[in-house]
Amino acid sequence: MRKIFVSPSILSADFARLEQECKSLEKSGADWIHCDVMDGNFVPNISIGIPVINSIRKCVVIPLDVHLMVDEPIRYVKQFAEAGANIITFHIEATTQAEKTANAIRACGKKVGISVKPDTPVEDLLPYKGLFDMVLIMSVEPGFGGQKFISSSVDKIKRARELFPDVLIEVDGGINQNTVSEVISAGADVIVAGNAVMLAKNRKEAIESLRNLR
Ligand code: DX5
Ligand code: ZN
Repeated sequence: MRKIFVSPSILSADFARLEQECKSLEKSGADWIHCDVMDGNFVPNISIGIPVINSIRKCVVIPLDVHLMVDEPIRYVKQFAEAGANIITFHIEATTQAEKTANAIRACGKKVGISVKPDTPVEDLLPYKGLFDMVLIMSVEPGFGGQKFISSSVDKIKRARELFPDVLIEVDGGINQNTVSEVISAGADVIVAGNAVMLAKNRKEAIESLRNLR
């Protein structure tokens, strides 16, 4: 059986207690911590940025999975890399320089992720095959936690698995104990979960159930 990674999103964390929140995720068995960076332009919301990533890096040792929802992310790649991101994912819709952005991430020694919003076909990533380590399929419109899973994402995950058999497939948005099995059956390797982990009474059980429900 292939390994499933669970990457809880701190977008639903209590930011006043971010150190304890991140340590609690690490202790509860999270594989990675998913950090949602929003610029108020690419998405209609603003969240955290470089100094916060830098602080989180000092609290935990597990990889930081940084999801950039930012226009022309190439401008910030080096700073996020230096702040301690391990995987840097950018949106194909946010840039006219996807190849350069992927190469800039790689040049910093980081893993490259490339993401598509719900209305963007995964085929749009074909020209960049070989330049990324992970595809992030958004299963909600990016910008907010706690939205409903878009069910057509399942076919998109299958298609991504066919087109890009050698990269990790991450899925983000609306994943919980009811939606996770079809996502994993379709071929996802990395499960992002905001509310389903952060608001759970027992985070360890929530993470384990997301990893094992298949
Ligand atoms: C949305 C973010 C997600 C979000 C997921 O733009 O990219 O990572 O935090 O939250 P849930 O799992 O609650 O949908
Ligand atoms: Zn995200």
